[in-house]
Amino acid sequence: MTILITGGGSGIGAATARRLSQWSAVVVADRNKAAADEVAREIIADGRKAFAVEVDVSSSASVKAMLEHLPAEARQIQGLFNNAGINVRQRIDEITEDGWDAVIATHVKGVLLVSQAVLPQMLARGRGVVVNTASDYAVIGVPGLAAYCAAKTAIYSMTKAMAVEFTAKGVRVNAVGPGPIDTPLLRAGRSPEEGAARLDLHRPKIPMKRLGRPEEVAAVVDFLMSDRSSYIAGQLLQPNGGLVVW
Ligand code: NAI
Repeated sequence: MTILITGGGSGIGAATARRLSQWSAVVVADRNKAAADEVAREIIADGRKAFAVEVDVSSSASVKAMLEHLPAEARQIQGLFNNAGINVRQRIDEITEDGWDAVIATHVKGVLLVSQAVLPQMLARGRGVVVNTASDYAVIGVPGLAAYCAAKTAIYSMTKAMAVEFTAKGVRVNAVGPGPIDTPLLRAGRSPEEGAARLDLHRPKIPMKRLGRPEEVAAVVDFLMSDRSSYIAGQLLQPNGGLVVW
């Protein structure tokens, strides 16, 4: 069994690669090759199987090259975690075209391109699992994050569309929708002081009064990837400390 993890070089992707490597070979794919190498090295040092590969998920040429660069044994992919992501903090009235395009291309086009690259072999086998990283922000509005919210809602929607298309063909598709998780992405674009002040403001609103850990999202992805979730398809599972409850 091999599971491909995009954005595997950091945060949620890295924690998930470490966890899934306990029962599967993992491909750690990231645009930051040094970070992917480091995660793969760590997993291999623990006696498990990992491959690091560079990819820009927003580029079809790069996604194609990623698969070509993998050794043959790592190209048989039974599980896909579409997780690579970025954030651009700009309100809808101020967001630049470049900022919008980068967020939508990384998240929405990224899920499309990597899924397109991997799904054919899953469908040919009549078996496979896909987990897409959405967010709480797929279902709530957040000030200053228009592109990110749009991208995450699109990923949630794509997850449902993919589930409707592929469940009967043996490929289960679900989404994980994390709340605030302590990773570099949460602090991106802010000084350490600004980041800390912002989080202090938000922490009291979280019923568990703390940020989540990447490992707590990895545990959910592990469940969705495994046969323990064999009757779950097209769902958004939200590890968020109780922050968003309907
Ligand atoms: P992170 O910044 O720690 O990791 C993201 C990884 O994605 C990085 O290693 C980065 O190099 C990689 N990446 C970015 N663009 C890429 C591209 N075009 N091609 C390949 N790799 C690319 O962030 P984190 O928090 O681990 O984020 C992972 C996913 O979780 C993202 O989709 C993010 O939107 C989502 N998420 C994060 C939350 C949080 O609070 N940290 C909350 C909800 C969702």
